[in-house]
Amino acid sequence: MYNKLEDMDFKDKKVIMRADYNVPIKDGKITDDSRIQKTLPTIKYLLENNASQIILMSHLGKPKGEIKKDLSLEPVSKRIREIVNEKVYFEQGLIREIDKLPEAKIIVLENTRFDPGEKQNDPLYAQNMASFADIFVLDAFGASHRKHASVTGIMQHLPACAGKLMQKELEIIGKVVKNPKKPFIAIIGGAKADKIDVIKNLLPKVDSLIIGGILANTFLKAKGVDIKGSKYDQDTLDVADEIIEVGGSKILLPEDVIAAGSFLKDAEYKTVSLDEIPQDWLILDIGPETIAKYKEQLKDSNTITWGGPIGVFEWENFSRGTKEIAEFIAESDAVSVICGGDSGAAVNRYGLEDKMTHVSTGGGASLHMLSGKKLPGQKALEENYEKYRE
Ligand code: 3PG
Repeated sequence: MYNKLEDMDFKDKKVIMRADYNVPIKDGKITDDSRIQKTLPTIKYLLENNASQIILMSHLGKPKGEIKKDLSLEPVSKRIREIVNEKVYFEQGLIREIDKLPEAKIIVLENTRFDPGEKQNDPLYAQNMASFADIFVLDAFGASHRKHASVTGIMQHLPACAGKLMQKELEIIGKVVKNPKKPFIAIIGGAKADKIDVIKNLLPKVDSLIIGGILANTFLKAKGVDIKGSKYDQDTLDVADEIIEVGGSKILLPEDVIAAGSFLKDAEYKTVSLDEIPQDWLILDIGPETIAKYKEQLKDSNTITWGGPIGVFEWENFSRGTKEIAEFIAESDAVSVICGGDSGAAVNRYGLEDKMTHVSTGGGASLHMLSGKKLPGQKALEENYEKYRE
C-alpha cells in the first residue's frame, strides 16, 4: 500500500517531485520529449490542486558525481516552460549548495547526479532535497530501480506519494507480472549483459523466451556456435549455458542471421545460416527464417513483453528483425508491454505506440519488475506510507 496523488492535500504546499527526465539530447536540443510529456498529468494535477510550488528534479546521463555542462537539465527546463502554461525557473546552483529557492511556481533543479551523494544515497543529500518542500512525489518510474538519494533516500524525510505516471506503470506492469494471460512470451534483446539475470528469473514464468540482439550472440556462443567476430559477453557465458540447459525448448535463438563485414551503417552484409558466417564478420540482425520462426511462436500468445532491440535497428540494413517483430506485436491481440529503452524507441520510430497495450518509460525498471522483483522506489513508497500513516 502506498499513497497516490488523491490521498494527499496539496493546497498551499510545496511539492518536490522526482521525474525521469533522462531524455536524449543532441546539440543542446531534446530529440524525444516523451518522458517529459508523460509527467504532465502529474504536474497538471498539482497545479489544479493548488500546490504553492512544484520543484522538479531528475538525473540526466551518467556524470559520475561531477558537473558536466552537456548534462545540464537546462534544456529540459526550457522544454517544460514551452509546454506548461506557467513560469518555470531553472535553478542552476548545485542542490547541496542552495540556501533558499525563489518564489517561482515551478522550479527545475540541476542534474541530481552532479553530486556523488545521489548514487551513494547520502542521507544528508536526501535531507537537502527534502528541506525544500512539504511533500515528495515520485513520478520517475524509469529511475525507480535505483536506490538513489532523490528516489528512495528522500522518502526518509517527508510524506510521499506516487505520481500518475508511476502509478500507471506499477499497475499495468504489476498486473502482467502477477497474472499474465497465458501463453506468455517474453522477448529479450539488446546489449546489456545484466539482462541475463532477468532472463533467469523470467524463465519459470513464461511459456517461451525469444532472444535477440547481442544477448543472442552470447547464447549462441554458449551453445558452441562459432559466431566469428560478433560481440558477446564473456562473463555471462556460463549463466547463458545454464539457462539453455534449464530452459530447453522454451528458449528460441536465431537460426539464420544478417552478418556484416564490419560494424558500420553501410557495411557489406548478407543473410547466412549460423555455420556460414564469414571469418571476422559480425551478426547485426536476425535473418528471415528466424523472423518467421519467432512470429510463428508469437502468433498464439496472449501476453507479450519485449525489452531490447533484436538487431542494430538504427541502421536500415539491420533493422528488419526489430521492425517486423514490432509490427507483429502491434497487430497481435495479445496484451503487449514494451519495456522502454531502445525497444520503446523502436516502437516510437515505427509509429506503433498506440497499438501496444503499454509502452513503459522505464527500460531497466520494467525489466526489474518483470523479473519478479519489487522496485526500490515502490518499496520506499510503501514504507513511507506506514511511517506517516496517522
Ligand atoms: C533510463 O534511462 O533507463 C533511466 O533513466 C535510468 O537511467 P540509469 O540507467 O542511468 O540509472
